[in-house]
Amino acid sequence: MQKRLISKKEAKVGIIGLGYVGLPLALEIARAGFKVIGIDIDKKRVAMINRGISFISDVDSKELKYFVSRDRIKSSTSYAKLRDCDIIIICVPTPININKEPDLSAVVECTHGIRNYLKKGQLIILKSTTYPETTEGVILPILKSSGLKVGKDFFLAFCPERIDPGNKKYGIANTPVVVGGVTKNCTRMATLFYRQFVNSVFPVSSPKVAEMTKLLENTFRNVNIALVNEFAQLCERIGGIDIWEVIDAAKTKPFGYMPFYPGPGVGGHCIPIDPYYLSWKAREYDFHTAFIELSARINEEMPYFVVNKIIDALGKSGRCSGQAKILLLGMAFKKDISDLRHSPSLKVYQILKARVQKVLYNDPYIPELRDDNKIIRSVALTAKLLKKMDAVVILTNHSKYDYDFIARHSRLIIDTRNAVKKQNRKVVKLGLGR
Ligand SMILES: NC(=O)c1ccc[n+]([C@@H]2O[C@H](COP(=O)([O-])OP(=O)(O)OC[C@H]3O[C@@H](n4cnc5c(N)ncnc54)[C@H](O)[C@@H]3O)[C@@H](O)[C@H]2O)c1
Repeated sequence: MQKRLISKKEAKVGIIGLGYVGLPLALEIARAGFKVIGIDIDKKRVAMINRGISFISDVDSKELKYFVSRDRIKSSTSYAKLRDCDIIIICVPTPININKEPDLSAVVECTHGIRNYLKKGQLIILKSTTYPETTEGVILPILKSSGLKVGKDFFLAFCPERIDPGNKKYGIANTPVVVGGVTKNCTRMATLFYRQFVNSVFPVSSPKVAEMTKLLENTFRNVNIALVNEFAQLCERIGGIDIWEVIDAAKTKPFGYMPFYPGPGVGGHCIPIDPYYLSWKAREYDFHTAFIELSARINEEMPYFVVNKIIDALGKSGRCSGQAKILLLGMAFKKDISDLRHSPSLKVYQILKARVQKVLYNDPYIPELRDDNKIIRSVALTAKLLKKMDAVVILTNHSKYDYDFIARHSRLIIDTRNAVKKQNRKVVKLGLGR
């Protein structure tokens, strides 16, 4: 019954959490022909979606409006809508608390919401990134308390999310999906569902394996960024070696090497967070994840390293840092997107403002941001402004920036992304000591 509904695309899909993961997923599933009901606790987001207005840069409002107007995407704050769903996908946040411990409260809360409306034949998929054993150890017990049997009455799987916001080459449909069900039937059901809108599905033997796969992918990225950040610091210490040139040379090797780039730190909702989920879980097994701790230490140090570099560059160019006016370019955590979460640019902003007279910012994707209780607005990037600044710091290398223009009109540039290609004495690059 359930299988037929899925293959005929008549199954109704509920998505809980309509953010960077949930909203693009809703659109992709609607494109494949399913009806989607989105649930979110954020009333504003729900209202915007129901008017066909997107707040995620990868989701086109026109297309969203198209599906909303044809009743293929609806959104609500009420969990009662899950009663109508055959498939429910959980895409809520999995942050860490101030002690860097997992905070699964949103996952637990929405699982209780699902349990209240759990019915025979439903397939539940967890997408939120988490530590191994969450699906079977946290979600399953709540759903089982309904009296329904997993693998028989309802199906449960973990399918990690791999979305890369801003990536024009790889989207949901052409990025393979890993599927780990609690039972074989659960894996079969989730695999069948994903085959309707994703080109390649890779089933694994359990949710634990799928959960660990996601953490391996993100920790791999975190560790490699830390490695190259350490190399960048070493290049500065030695002097005369440009880390960017070294990476360009290393990546000519066609096997066994993959380029990662230095920068002011790591940001977003995944790379700085997910490894902590694993290190927290590892401690339960008397295991210390040395690579995770070490890479966190290096990556979290980078904003401080960059600020010292700015102060140093000001001094070398004869400016007094205490009276300096600095312009930061790019506050999003990576290029061409508007995501500010855990952005290292914010950290640089916070550390720097205590050490110089004034810090301004420009980001074409972020018109304003909150600093304590104040709203700070992005300033217009004009030749006049650039000339007035004691230093301009490139933190995120958005493609929209005209780097020649910036280089022409600035007095001093600290470039943490190797964005300014025409080098001259006023450009101070991260990863190149003089
Ligand atoms: N953003 C990414 O690039 C990315 C990539 C891979 C994995 N992930 C993982 O996916 C999950 C979701 O991330 P995101 O970036 O989409 O987060 P997000 O903050 O952009 O969106 C989450 C949404 O869930 C809603 N929400 C919170 N609690 C809720 C609840 N109890 N019930 C209903 N809705 C609730 C929020 O209002 C928000 O709209 C996280 O676990 C994250 O680690 C994110």
